[in-house]
Amino acid sequence: MIALGCDHGGYRLKEAVKKYLEENQIEYHDYGTYSEESVNYAPYAAKVGHAVMNGEAKCGILCCGTGIGISIAANKIRGIRAAVCTNEFCAEMTRRHNDANILCMGGRVIDEDMAVKLAKIFLETPFDGGRHATRIAEIAAIERGEL
Ligand code: RB5
Repeated sequence: MIALGCDHGGYRLKEAVKKYLEENQIEYHDYGTYSEESVNYAPYAAKVGHAVMNGEAKCGILCCGTGIGISIAANKIRGIRAAVCTNEFCAEMTRRHNDANILCMGGRVIDEDMAVKLAKIFLETPFDGGRHATRIAEIAAIERGEL
């Protein structure tokens, strides 16, 4: 299952990604928000981040105006690696090198077509492992206060 979330600034991107997932029979859960009415982004980052960390979701997609606020919020959850992507190269590399578990995008930065492209790349690209696994282990060490 893919966990989806957004604030009002990311609503249109989230809906576009949702349509893509539906058309491709990819299971998802939409944690909201459900309209373009103004809301704060942190609660949606938390819902999606917790769904990923408790194993309900294999990964998440979060959208806000820039993708930045919602990524900062999601990254407060231990184990979350949420990456803001604006182009295909970053969407591929954040899976291959960072093993990102949440893709973040900005509705005031990219359009719906690009959001769907980035979501597809993110969902289909595996982690390279190897030396990158060592680097990710160091990120976890920071979370434990060891670095
Ligand atoms: C909301 O206006 C906006 O601040 C939010 O969507 C996001 O861009 C924050 O980083």
